[in-house]
Amino acid sequence: MKIALIGMPAIGKTTLGRKLARIYGMDFVDLDHAIEEAIGCSIREYFDGMGEAAFRDVESRVLADHVARPGAAVLSTGGGIVLRPENRALLRQRCLVAYLFATPEVLLRRVRNDRTRPLLQVDDPLARLQELYAARHPLYQETADFHVAADAAGTRAVLAELQRHLAVHGLQSA
Ligand code: S3P
Repeated sequence: MKIALIGMPAIGKTTLGRKLARIYGMDFVDLDHAIEEAIGCSIREYFDGMGEAAFRDVESRVLADHVARPGAAVLSTGGGIVLRPENRALLRQRCLVAYLFATPEVLLRRVRNDRTRPLLQVDDPLARLQELYAARHPLYQETADFHVAADAAGTRAVLAELQRHLAVHGLQSA
């Protein structure tokens, strides 16, 4: 059994994924981190040097590798994981997928001083977030088994909501 968290950058996939894994006694895998181990540098450096398409190739390979591994795990994914149809298909087939969502305005507050996310290093990050959200929201929706709002609510409330949905899908905490 694998649980995958999908959603926009800075929605809290890594923080929530780590906590969720502890609650369910599962391994935790941050796919962005696994990608950085595979490429041997930061995602930002790789984007700058090799371009986005090369990054997406590595991202797809790392996803396929991790969903094929045995054992229960929570996977936190990069915000662009849903862009490729083969990634969406893999996630749907092999994982219980939770879409964490918030408005671009809320996300902006969380990424204001962020220098690690290459797609957000622009003059108008809100416009970029709005653009990404418009393009991706339907893809997140079609990939997910359920949705959880992660904007106003604190981490505890979001975790409780995730657990409620996971219980509906037959998953009990450890
Ligand atoms: C990306 C999001 C990042 C990372 C890369 C590309 C995106 O992950 O995978 O910078 O396309 O939205 P986070 O969602 O953890 O920021």
